[in-house]
This record gives sequence, structure tokens and C-alpha cells, in this order.
Amino acid sequence: MAQAIAHPNLALIKYWGKTNFKHNLPSTPSLSITLNNLTTTTSVQIQTELSKDQIFLNDNLIENHKIISFMNQIRKLSKKNVFTVIKTKNNFPTAAGYASSASGFAALSLACNQEFQLGLSPKELACLARDGSGSATRSLSSGLVAWKPGNCENSFGYQILPAHDVPLAVFSFKNTDNAKAVSSTKAMEQVRKSSPYYDAWIKSTTSDFNKSLKFIKNHQWVDLLKLAEINAFKMHATMLSSQPPIIYWEPQTISLIKRIQKTRQEKNLIAYISIDAGANIKLLTLQSQVPKIINTFQDLSYTISLPGEGAKLID
Ligand code: DP6
Repeated sequence: MAQAIAHPNLALIKYWGKTNFKHNLPSTPSLSITLNNLTTTTSVQIQTELSKDQIFLNDNLIENHKIISFMNQIRKLSKKNVFTVIKTKNNFPTAAGYASSASGFAALSLACNQEFQLGLSPKELACLARDGSGSATRSLSSGLVAWKPGNCENSFGYQILPAHDVPLAVFSFKNTDNAKAVSSTKAMEQVRKSSPYYDAWIKSTTSDFNKSLKFIKNHQWVDLLKLAEINAFKMHATMLSSQPPIIYWEPQTISLIKRIQKTRQEKNLIAYISIDAGANIKLLTLQSQVPKIINTFQDLSYTISLPGEGAKLID
């Protein structure tokens, strides 16, 4: 049996749009921060008597076509026609905009590399994880991680700053446990096909990515967080303008957006918003501001993450 842990990542510059559906090749570059404290643990065990994979998510037997097709790819790569028991556990809500597929496929790739003795290099592993779910390629690395468009062999997540050099913190507010109605895979495709703003998004987010690298280089952390908020809202604008419109937000989402905007002005807080394909809000801040943020949002439930480590095998 092989077992791995991985953390989700939060994109400061979002991956939203693909040039290749099968291999999750992105239309644009993205930038993320790996989040400690939120964890996926996945074990994979080959069991020769099985005639299909058995997948357990948080102890419940589930059907998941993404995982099955990923495992088919592993069987092809390893030339081993065997099935497995996969047990995966998240210590955070699944499929509600908490990037569970990122940490899920990062941990699964690592565990499969070991259990099937694939012998993949870190780059090959990052490409394999990307095939499972695009954002997973970024969860293999720690700290700030970039991922650029390219082909199957050269488009993968890579670290641009190690965790201990990144002075940022992320509050993940828990607005809802509900699984999202439309997967990010489907939503991205719908946006590409029907939003009149898709081309503008590609241009504008590519320029945001380039700006973000400059901000990181110059340690302009607040500018980076402001840019991340703008980028997240631009991504949601492509969804609102698709047909039919995709609206992940719940009433609680909007009320928290308004509250963060109001209190940051009143109290002079460094507090910026990011939202993925779900209703939950992430608040981006500097580590030095964490006590102030805790004080301001005492009535809400959240997890605080600092920059986290990349995925790794465990005993
Ligand atoms: C909004 O990586 O879940 O979180 O590649 O189709 O599996 P697939 O999509 P996925 O999309 C993540 C979208 C996002 C933005 C991001 O993480 O960059």
C-alpha cells in the first residue's frame, strides 16, 4: 500500500479555460499558494482479486468517473491490468470551492507512482497530476507555484518561492458544505463556448500573471493581494456572462463580500477576497495582520492557512 498527503492550493491568478480537454492544458498561466492545515490523505492498494477500483471518500464508497479514467491511465502507463482500493480523506468540505480535486489528484498521483512503481520524475509526476485535474499540478509544490500553458510534457506546476519566504495567510470561511452544482471542468468549458468575454479574460489574466511575478519579485505583497481579488472577480464575470449564467455564490457569499469590503475600509485592514468555483470565500492577508483579522471576524467559522508544503508520501 502507498499513502500520500497533499494540501489544496488557492489560485491568486486563476486557471480558467483549457486548450486541451483531455490533458487539462490551460489557456492561461496561473499562480497559486499551497495551503497548510487543509489536508487530503490518500492511500492506494493494488488488490489482484478486484475487477474494478473501489473508491472511498471520507469512508463512503463512491463512483467517480474522473478517478476511474485516471486509474485507467495509470494501468496503461504501468502495463499492469490490476485494480485498487483507494481511500481518500479530506479535513475540509469537498467540491464546494475548496479545491479538493487539486489536493486529491496530487496525493493520488504520488501514491500511484509508488504503488505501481512508475518511477516518474517530479516533472512527469506534475504532468500526471495535471491530467487528473489541472489545479492538482500546483499542489505538488510548496509555497508560491506557477503553471504556464504548453504541451503535455512542459505544462506543469513549479515553485517560484518556497513556503517560508511567503508572508501571506489565507482564511477559508465556511459558508456552506453543499457540493457545487456545476463542476469547474464543466463551467470552464461552458464559459469558453458561450461567454463573449472569454477572449478578454485570456488577455487580461495573462497580463495579471505577468504583473504578479513582478510584485513577487519586488515583495509588493499588498499589490499582489489586490490583484488576486480583481482576478477572482474577473473570472466570476466570465461565468455570469456565459449561457446559461453560472452563479456559484449564495446569499451568505455576497453578504461576506460586502462585510469584508466595508470593514477593511473602516479598520484599515489588509483583507482581500478570492472565490473559486463555489460559494466559500477566502480572505487573503499578510501574516502580520492575522490577529486583527481574527478579532474582526470572531463570529464566523474559518480555517487559517499559511503557505504549505508540497505533496509527499507518508508511512
Ligand atoms: C476556479 O483544476 O478543478 O479553482 O482541470 O477541469 O479538473 P479541471 O479543473 P480544476 O479547476 C480549478 C479552477 C479554479 C481556479 C484555479 O484553481 O486556478
